[in-house]
Amino acid sequence: MSALLTEPIDAFGKVILFGEHSVVYGYPALAVGIPGGVSVQHAVRRDKGSVVRVKEWGLEAHTESSGSFADALRKALELVPGKGDVEITMQTRLPLGAGVGSSAAFSVAITKAIAYARDERLLPVTVRKIAHEIEHIFHGSPSGIDDMVATFGGIVLFSKSGIKDLDIRVGWVEIERCGYLLSLRTPSLVVGFSGKTHSTREMVEKVRKGFLASKESTERLFMKTKEALEEGINALRQKDLKKLGQALSKNHEALKELGVSTKESEEMLEIAKKAHAIGGKISGAGGGGAVVVLAPGFEQECLNAWKEAGYSGFILPSSNFIIWSSKN
Ligand code: PMV
Repeated sequence: MSALLTEPIDAFGKVILFGEHSVVYGYPALAVGIPGGVSVQHAVRRDKGSVVRVKEWGLEAHTESSGSFADALRKALELVPGKGDVEITMQTRLPLGAGVGSSAAFSVAITKAIAYARDERLLPVTVRKIAHEIEHIFHGSPSGIDDMVATFGGIVLFSKSGIKDLDIRVGWVEIERCGYLLSLRTPSLVVGFSGKTHSTREMVEKVRKGFLASKESTERLFMKTKEALEEGINALRQKDLKKLGQALSKNHEALKELGVSTKESEEMLEIAKKAHAIGGKISGAGGGGAVVVLAPGFEQECLNAWKEAGYSGFILPSSNFIIWSSKN
């Protein structure tokens, strides 16, 4: 039954460097893709009823099952062109509900896998559009940054109002309305997991309540986040790690004031600081989940210190996006 894929089918995980939550309100956000987030191992047509399996998540969802993954499978079968049921097996390095884009990577991977099994060709923009619809099942009303990064990878600036009113001076390519690949290289980053999963939907709701209760102070925090993003992008361009660290921490201050940090996330950032991190923040919706820190030359020390305190994590190596000219 297991047929080898004739081409790799995968989707990126993501780490948000700047702008989670404020991005839901139209502010810009910056995220980096985690290569090999979800990879499809097996995708074939079958006669009756579809199934998707992800061993690391203990997941087996059928068209007849209940739950969000089965809903996602049904949605994908409906939206991907062509006909026919499928059997799909995936592998992942992303923990669920931890702020590293697992559901978006799943949504992209299942879209591509069904298209492959049905012998259909999809443009990346179509993959992303379908994945965005599937993401609604997991998150209610996602901003779109996760599915954008899950599809394209690289260093993605997501900005509904475009790039022109931002105070940044970098090369970029528009990949879609509101999505831009930036010509930047990110340094090595350390991503840590608190071990406490979160619900993005609940955290977005929490911020919404705060916004409705006090628009002015919430907008002030969103503006601070936007400033941190601009400072961070310019620091990346100038390869100024100190400024980048400061910008990450500035964004974290705003997130903390928004009420999405936790005791564990604060402890992880404190531990990282003692292990020579020069900046960091929660990454993703918060309420547990992930943190990302910059600890140039001390990445492993940081990881070890977290492990000693009972937390886990990984090093995301330096990444870059190269704009290929037509001559290449
Ligand atoms: O689901 P997470 O933890 O990867 O976070 C998503 C980022 C948010 O800005 C909180 C929500 C969104 O839709 O952009």
